[in-house]
Amino acid sequence: MLPTAQEVAERAARVVIEGVRAALASGRTEPVIGLATGSSPVGLYTVLAGAVEAGEVDFGRARGFALDEYVGLPPRHPESYREVLLREVCGPLGLPPERLHVPDGSGDSEEALAAGAADYERRIAEAGGVDVQILGIGANGHLGFNEPGSALTSRTRVKRLSERTRGDNARFFDSLDAVPTHCVTQGLGTVLDARRLVLVASGAGKAAAVAAAVEGPLSASCPASVLQWHADAVVVLDEAAAVGLA
Ligand code: F6R
Repeated sequence: MLPTAQEVAERAARVVIEGVRAALASGRTEPVIGLATGSSPVGLYTVLAGAVEAGEVDFGRARGFALDEYVGLPPRHPESYREVLLREVCGPLGLPPERLHVPDGSGDSEEALAAGAADYERRIAEAGGVDVQILGIGANGHLGFNEPGSALTSRTRVKRLSERTRGDNARFFDSLDAVPTHCVTQGLGTVLDARRLVLVASGAGKAAAVAAAVEGPLSASCPASVLQWHADAVVVLDEAAAVGLA
């Protein structure tokens, strides 16, 4: 728990840089980072961009795998997670755009979306798995877009977004109606396969979800509680997000 959002970003960025270095030291020439979107990791990405500029870390041979993507947004929609990550991560961190992988939310049938999801799992496996997975947490405890009720061993698949999540994410769109109803998300089992997890949360709005995830029972009603199952999961919080912890 740290006093300010800036310190949260800096500590989390340290975990990512150490994860990348550990991957390189273990002989992985193309380290893989798992990328969350939303507001929580924005400061962390800014700190990482500074570290790249300072020559402390290099993402030129890394691969990035997004946690999730909306279903049905038009190609190049500015709020599609592919576009967000191209803008906020690939550019600033020097991660080549062709090394960014995002679940395919453009399928026009259940079968096409399911095939895209299976292909995404294959691509993660071919890349040797995720070395460091960056995570945020939803106010309802979701992880990726695994909403409450998600199977703890789930893999990448289509999910319906809860109305709470749609409401929370309406700030990125012109209206609530414009927020997609479905997404393709890495499953909880997929997330757990990453070698190291780092979750960032700040603000009072996350306090109840953080307390349930960190100190509550391991349960599908709080998907982020699966972090308790992982041997190398780091949770970096500001004071407001940590207020519900014993
Ligand atoms: C984003 C994601 C979500 C967000 C969560 C928190 O790729 O998978 O789990 O991390 O909705 O969003 P923010 O950070 O905007 O509060």
